Amino acid sequence: MEFGDVVRGRRMVRAYDPGRAVAEGTLTELLELAIRAPSAGFSQGWDFVVLRTAADTGRFWAASKDDEDGEPDRWLAGMQTAPVLVLCLSDRERYLDRYAEPDKGWSDRDSARWPVPYWDVDTGMAGLLILLGAVDEGLSGCFFGVPPERQAAVLAEFGAPSGHRIVGVISLGYPAPPGVDRRSPSLRRGRRPITEVAHDGDYGVHWS
Ligand SMILES: Cc1cc2nc3c(=O)[nH]c(=O)nc-3n(C[C@H](O)[C@H](O)[C@H](O)COP(=O)(O)O)c2cc1C
Repeated sequence: MEFGDVVRGRRMVRAYDPGRAVAEGTLTELLELAIRAPSAGFSQGWDFVVLRTAADTGRFWAASKDDEDGEPDRWLAGMQTAPVLVLCLSDRERYLDRYAEPDKGWSDRDSARWPVPYWDVDTGMAGLLILLGAVDEGLSGCFFGVPPERQAAVLAEFGAPSGHRIVGVISLGYPAPPGVDRRSPSLRRGRRPITEVAHDGDYGVHWS
């Protein structure tokens, strides 16, 4: 696909065809794209836990759920049809270690030096490459978060070190038949145009 078509064709999909598996080779392709993401100091402080059996995705949903007995709501019922989940983890320690090296010189490992948490930024960039790559492969995906109070349980369930953070989870699969997936109500807000979000030279001088 043309790059612009991939970008414009991407939308979050929250219901999948559960009977249609994603080939292992396709997942490898998507992971190969993810590791091409930029990263501060080339720290590459990301890890991806790929869940591609019903048993493993079930472990995720059980660990991330806050209501033990409740019936899944429409969002959860749709998302649970995804044959693949990719947990996108960031690793802050890897950045502190990398920037303590002589060429960077932040040997005090002081968190206050960081303008924003680059470990999360970089992992998010890698996640976007997976989402775009999925569109290019004819797949659909949705990036979603894990609430703070469920992070430790999910990390523990999959044996990930507690210093990691789940920046987000990407559900992947072939989309459900038309009409099954419901557009997010958030989309009613409309897309902010570049005449509003882009500033020409100074903030407030709108792009025209
Ligand atoms: C950081 C982040 C967190 C998100 N969390 C959720 C989520 O928890 N549940 C969900 O259904 N969608 C989630 N989304 C998807 C957004 O709702 C979606 O990107 C937005 O409504 C625009 O729709 P589009 O991506 O289909 O264009 C998230 C997206 C991002 C970037």
